[in-house]
Amino acid sequence: MATDYIVKDINLAEFGRKELDIAETEMPGLMALREEYGESKPLKGSRIVGSLHMTIQTAVLIETLVALGADVRWASCNIFSTQDHAAAAIAAGGTPVFAIKGQSLEEHWDYLDRSFMFPEGANLILDDGGDATLYVLLGARVEAGEAGLIETPTSEEEEAVFAQIKKRMAASPGWFTKTREAIQGVSEETTTGVHRLYELHKNGQLPFPAINVNDSVTKSKFDNKYGCKESLVDGIRRATDTMMAGKVAVVCGYGDVGKGSAASLAGAGARVKVTEIDPICALQAAMDGFEVTTLEDEAATADIFITTTGNKDVIRIEHMREMKDMAIVGNIGHFDNEIQIANLKNHKWTNIKEQVDMIEMPSGNRMILLSEGRLLNLGNATGHPSFVMSASFTNQVLAQMELWLRADEYNNEVYILPKHLDEKVARLHLDRIGVKLSKLAKEQADYIGVSVDGPYKPEHYRY
Ligand code: NAI
Repeated sequence: MATDYIVKDINLAEFGRKELDIAETEMPGLMALREEYGESKPLKGSRIVGSLHMTIQTAVLIETLVALGADVRWASCNIFSTQDHAAAAIAAGGTPVFAIKGQSLEEHWDYLDRSFMFPEGANLILDDGGDATLYVLLGARVEAGEAGLIETPTSEEEEAVFAQIKKRMAASPGWFTKTREAIQGVSEETTTGVHRLYELHKNGQLPFPAINVNDSVTKSKFDNKYGCKESLVDGIRRATDTMMAGKVAVVCGYGDVGKGSAASLAGAGARVKVTEIDPICALQAAMDGFEVTTLEDEAATADIFITTTGNKDVIRIEHMREMKDMAIVGNIGHFDNEIQIANLKNHKWTNIKEQVDMIEMPSGNRMILLSEGRLLNLGNATGHPSFVMSASFTNQVLAQMELWLRADEYNNEVYILPKHLDEKVARLHLDRIGVKLSKLAKEQADYIGVSVDGPYKPEHYRY
């Protein structure tokens, strides 16, 4: 029988399994869900397409979904983020996975397409950045004649997705429309993907319920912040081995990822400056002790530049032309369009090692570019540690259970999980790090107007 997976080397499975065993000890939320629901198998009958960085932590997520009864097929949501030993372990365990670190853009969309190919069709999506959702919805619009196949794409990304849609339409006419109808819902991992979902809803184009996992407090206020605090400097160090202490680092954006990134660089001894467009976040950065300035003022003098905005064209060609020799440039936001990489294509590139390039500017100054502008903590290092991903992924599993078990209670809108589940996710992570929680007395609970068992905060509370 032909193998139903594409991984770099299936012989890496044993190594992957050993690291998976370690990760499980750091992912108490996921392990608790296996304990609670492993027997009743609430996800039985679900066929989940996952499009999320194929790392060791994601492997623990996949095996949790399977333990709860789901059928799963997986692709990575980024061409550089796969950990090949994690993918091998998942494939060896019998779950179809299509992911190789360093795959091409064409392969990215081909692998995503393959992850939809359940014999009976997919019925749920677990997305990170929205590519799986986009693939089905855009394909269905093309099939219906509501969107054209772009004949002259404006980016390599666009070219790749339209080429894949064309291929699937030729191979199985009507597939996109049928798949869109069969999908019961999507749970979305990250800020950028959530932004896409709200846009779809606003335009009346969201055909199924969506759960915004990113805005669970136990996701964005932990993974985006404390995760980046650990993984940003890890990525820069593995890529460059540069001395961080004393260097001037500019962090563009001071949202959750920016806060974690600035803390990461400051913790390593760098002198950190921040750029922002939002006065509230700018004020926060200043009061956290960072100089808030503009890229125009810093381009010529800083040593390290990191984008964290989820916005496009943040570091532009005019900034890069001004940078001093051997400046380091990288992005930790979801997509690579934060840095104008396309404008560097006609410069001289020298590859130093995987995901590290040196680019010569017209002035003769060289720039070190990390992961071709794709998220560097997953491209140059191994992403966030297991413990914080356990909180994110516990939310993901709870979201998938909601969409599968209670689909009728949701409209075609974007939802956030209820606060009692958010608090449950946090609670599941306390023991592992020895946290002792104080107990609220009944009189105290009445006094502040909450129940002894929570939720402890109103919806508008911001943490
Ligand atoms: P956020 O919305 O909390 O923060 C983004 C900040 O950038 C905002 O404060 C905004 O005002 C600012 N900003 C926007 N345009 C700007 C500009 N031109 N110059 C300076 N600042 C600007 O979003 P969050 O949660 O911090 O996520 C940021 C990005 O990181 C998203 O693409 C998200 O998907 C991604 N992400 C990446 C992770 C990783 O592991 N690499 C983990 C979590 C999120």
